Amino acid sequence: MDQHKKKVIRSVAIIGAGAAGAITAAAFKAENYYERIRVFERRDRAGGTWIYDPDPLPAPPVHPGSLPPDVDPPLKVPENLPRTVPPNQQQRYALTPVYSSLTTNVPDIAMSFSDRRFAYGPFAPHYVPRQYIEDYFSHHKTDSFLVLNTTVEDVSQLSADRWRLTLREYDAVRHVDIWWDEEFDAVILANGHYSVPYVPQVPGLQTYTTLYPSRVIHSKFYRQPLLYANKRVLVIGNSASGHDIAAELVTAAHLPVYVSRRSRSRWEGPEPPTGIEWKPVIKAYLPDGTILFSDGSTLANIDTVIYSTGYLPSFPFWNSKNGSKNGSKNGSPLWDYAAGRLANNYQHTFLRDFPTLGVVGIPRVLTFRSFEYQAIALARLWSGRNTAALPSLEEQERWEKERAERKRAEGNKFHDITWDDGETMEWLGVLFRIAGLGTLTGEGRIPPALGEELVWAIEHLKKYPEPEKGDESDEHNRGVVETEGDWVVLERRVKDSLAFI
Ligand SMILES: Cc1cc2nc3c(=O)[nH]c(=O)nc-3n(C[C@H](O)[C@H](O)[C@H](O)COP(=O)(O)OP(=O)(O)OC[C@H]3O[C@@H](n4cnc5c(N)ncnc54)[C@H](O)[C@@H]3O)c2cc1C
Ligand SMILES: NC(=O)c1ccc[n+]([C@@H]2O[C@H](COP(=O)([O-])OP(=O)(O)OC[C@H]3O[C@@H](n4cnc5c(N)ncnc54)[C@H](OP(=O)(O)O)[C@@H]3O)[C@@H](O)[C@H]2O)c1
Repeated sequence: MDQHKKKVIRSVAIIGAGAAGAITAAAFKAENYYERIRVFERRDRAGGTWIYDPDPLPAPPVHPGSLPPDVDPPLKVPENLPRTVPPNQQQRYALTPVYSSLTTNVPDIAMSFSDRRFAYGPFAPHYVPRQYIEDYFSHHKTDSFLVLNTTVEDVSQLSADRWRLTLREYDAVRHVDIWWDEEFDAVILANGHYSVPYVPQVPGLQTYTTLYPSRVIHSKFYRQPLLYANKRVLVIGNSASGHDIAAELVTAAHLPVYVSRRSRSRWEGPEPPTGIEWKPVIKAYLPDGTILFSDGSTLANIDTVIYSTGYLPSFPFWNSKNGSKNGSKNGSPLWDYAAGRLANNYQHTFLRDFPTLGVVGIPRVLTFRSFEYQAIALARLWSGRNTAALPSLEEQERWEKERAERKRAEGNKFHDITWDDGETMEWLGVLFRIAGLGTLTGEGRIPPALGEELVWAIEHLKKYPEPEKGDESDEHNRGVVETEGDWVVLERRVKDSLAFI
């Protein structure tokens, strides 16, 4: 029995007007079934990650080892809503990490939604996808669903098919916050997960940040190299941000620019590029300011340390207190930080405990294009026009458990969906089958094909050249570079072609 079909869902709240929110709004509108769709966005425009904030400084202090519930806690909701109160002063991490020179790293045919291409490609400057997302709302006439400058501060389940959202609009004219509640039958989380920076715990780092304030920043707050002219810079992390920032710093900073790597990226050959020196992971920050690495080497007199160590999802609005005085029935956290995944999820999109809650945009996989399959599957499921039902809750739980075990064994994260082994196709296929065909009278969006040309582009159009991988048994090609005393730890895997997405 399909537990989703029992609920009659007519009103839907979408949290976030990035790419995920844009396609979700379009898919739900296309059903011509839902009576009320609202897209709440805390920024003053649509675009999400792709909005460029030229001046994000001063960067907030880093919090080594801290998780989002600690650094991005919920705001206190005022009593007796609606109310107008002085504006919030708490850091909400609403600015984006886009730096000045950023371009897309996936060919536009595979990145854009199926019904419209980016203005140009294959790799476009950041303002192209931003404008594209904004245009996408108007193109589908979903711009009227947008509620801008409005942060969702609390999401509480009132009953199985009723949710209350507590909303805060910043009124820039009066410089006040306006708080109110709205109720919906269903909610889609499309709030992104590149807002709250992650900085690992390293012995001595907390003290170092106190002794040398402003010396350590997260890549989220990097914009361009001139600010680091002639500075001695250490970049930590070697994925897309670390790679790009280090390469750009070579044009301005004191040379060499140091890059601390835990594993190698797909773009690396056996030697670092000119101007860059590789270091292994950091073992400790010493009180005299020296940085000690795991191979025993040290660096002194570093002016700036840029942690390019990624982000963790944050859901400060999720009211996990069961039976609290405001009547929330959510009962448990939405994200399991220890396991690194959405709690009790199925196919990264559906939640076993909350059949009227959907999530679009969590997996690390093709971005916009796979959000499209997620959004269509949810829109069709909740309108009752889906072709395939979700499996039983037992089956869904089995899927989650088996995936968690397999991914752990592979050394991958739960929501990393790989390309090379066909996992992406398999996943999109599941969503495709749930959604099924549109109606004869044209209601509903049909999940698109992932055609030959698109697949060819993913596999052949690369933003950066990748050195030949060659024989995977040789040490260089297996990556790593980590040493522990007399041991050399080889990377367990060669990274997936789309691991950088
Ligand atoms: C630096 C960087 C570069 C990237 N480059 C690429 C690339 O080249 N190619 C690629 O495919 N992907 C890239 N990505 C991934 C990128 O995040 C996705 O492409 C995509 O934009 C994610 O869309 P989203 O809608 O899921 O999230 P977001 O774009 O983050 O949108 C979420 C929206 O929700 C809003 N929001 C959050 N919380 C609330 C709340 N409580 N109330 C109201 N609104 C809220 C946010 O303000 C935001 O507008 C990049 C990511 C980063 C960080
Ligand atoms: N369009 C573009 O060109 C572009 C540019 C920048 C960012 N982005 C996107 O932005 C998103 C975030 O990318 P990101 O590079 O900021 O983050 P990320 O991909 O999550 O990478 C984090 C990096 O930090 C390293 N790391 C994590 N913990 C560490 C530790 N304790 N010690 C040493 N290293 C550690 C990781 O190493 P391991 O690899 O060993 O885990 C990885 O290299 C991605 O979607 C990416 O595609 C895109």
